[in-house]
This record gives sequence, structure tokens and C-alpha cells, in this order.
Amino acid sequence: MSVRLDKFLSQSGERTRSEAVRAIRSGQVCVNGQPVRDPGQKISENDAVTLAGQAVADDALQYYLLYKPAGVLTAARDSHAQTVMDLLPQALRRRKVLPVGRLDKDTTGLLLLTNDGALAHALLDPKRHVWKRYLATVEGRLDQEDVAAFAGGVALKDFTAKPAVLRILSANGQESRAEVEVREGKFHQVRRMFGARGHEVTALHRACFGPLSLPQHLKPGEHIRLTQEQVDLLRQAVQNA
Ligand code: URA
Repeated sequence: MSVRLDKFLSQSGERTRSEAVRAIRSGQVCVNGQPVRDPGQKISENDAVTLAGQAVADDALQYYLLYKPAGVLTAARDSHAQTVMDLLPQALRRRKVLPVGRLDKDTTGLLLLTNDGALAHALLDPKRHVWKRYLATVEGRLDQEDVAAFAGGVALKDFTAKPAVLRILSANGQESRAEVEVREGKFHQVRRMFGARGHEVTALHRACFGPLSLPQHLKPGEHIRLTQEQVDLLRQAVQNA
């Protein structure tokens, strides 16, 4: 998504459009360190804009979807390991965009990021029943008893999981593949649910979060900015709960 530089400046601070144009023409505005004198230049969310040497932040609420690769931590920062924030341009980190919940280090797939704390909180609230769909590869043969156990709520050491949907895609004595839908997101929840049934998870991938699916064209490590329609769908998902 791109926007004119003068529009961005006037939207992100207390200045009118004509004040923004004057500031740009006077050479005080830099994009990614280079002075820009054209008010119509298009910039995107990945560009760093400064006015008289000060960063200009777009304070508006921002929503992104990242294809989390394996081996990357879902954390705001870590002194050793690579985090999902390291995959985002610095301009987004400055806008305090944070992950909505967590995926384990080895889990891949759809991760939402936003600076809209209220929506993030609602999306993670188990009472709102926002379903998340995963594709799991597990050891051993899954069967209808596992399907029934997930539907009834798998008992774990510290809590009983809410009823979940398990669809077996393939199963043999060595390995099975399945789709799982859960509406809560406790620590290692899907792995623990399979573990409680005697099936260790060897791969886990999140395909959907509520109404949003991982776009086909996105590659691991890539992100997109959500459209207004997609944000509205997320809002509806928490309201319909
Ligand atoms: N459940 C898990 O066990 N791990 C994840 O990363 C997500 C859901």
C-alpha cells in the first residue's frame, strides 16, 4: 500500500496538507535518509520518514499478516535467536506493531501483528471463540477415537481443552496428517493435545486465524498489510462471539 508523502505527513502529525507540502519543498523531509522535495512521491509502510531529523511515525492502527518460517521466535526481541520482529522492516518496529499471540519456534504459518492492543486481546480471548486452523503431521495412526477425544475436549495436566475439530487427512502406521481447529491458544496447546493422545507432532502449520487464511502467494518470511476489509472481518469475528 502506498500513499503520497504530503498526505502521510499531514495524517501523521498536527500539520495541514499545505504545511506538509511546504516542509517537503524546503528540503526538511527525508525518506530513508535521502531528502525528497516532491510532495507527490509515493511511500509505503516500509519507508522511514524524517522531518527536520525527527522520525515521523504513522500513529494510526496498523495490521499485518506474516508467514512465520520455522526456527524463528515469536517474541518482541531476543538477545540470541532471530525473532519475527527481525523479519519486519524497521519502520514497522518503530510503530510498536507486536505479534497477536504466539506460534512455537518450529511452527510455521499465519501470524497476525498489530499495534491495536484491544483487537489483539479480543482475538486471543477464548470466550470469543475465534477459531484457528492448523495442519499437523504426527507420529502414528490417527483414528476416530482421536477425533472423538478432540471433540469431547482433551484432558491435559493443568486444564481440559475446549472441544476441538480434528479431520484426518491421511493415516498410516508411521505417520498421519490432519487439520485441527481450536478456539483457544494456550502454550503448546495443539502439540499437547496430540501428545495426550500418544501422537507426537512432527510439523505444525497455522493455515487460518478466524476469517483470514494464509495467502497462497506469500512465502515464508514475507508479510502483507491487511486491507480494511480484512480488518473489518477480524472485528466482526470478535463481535459475533
Ligand atoms: N499450538 C501449539 O502447540 N503450538 C503452536 O505453535 C500453536 C498452537
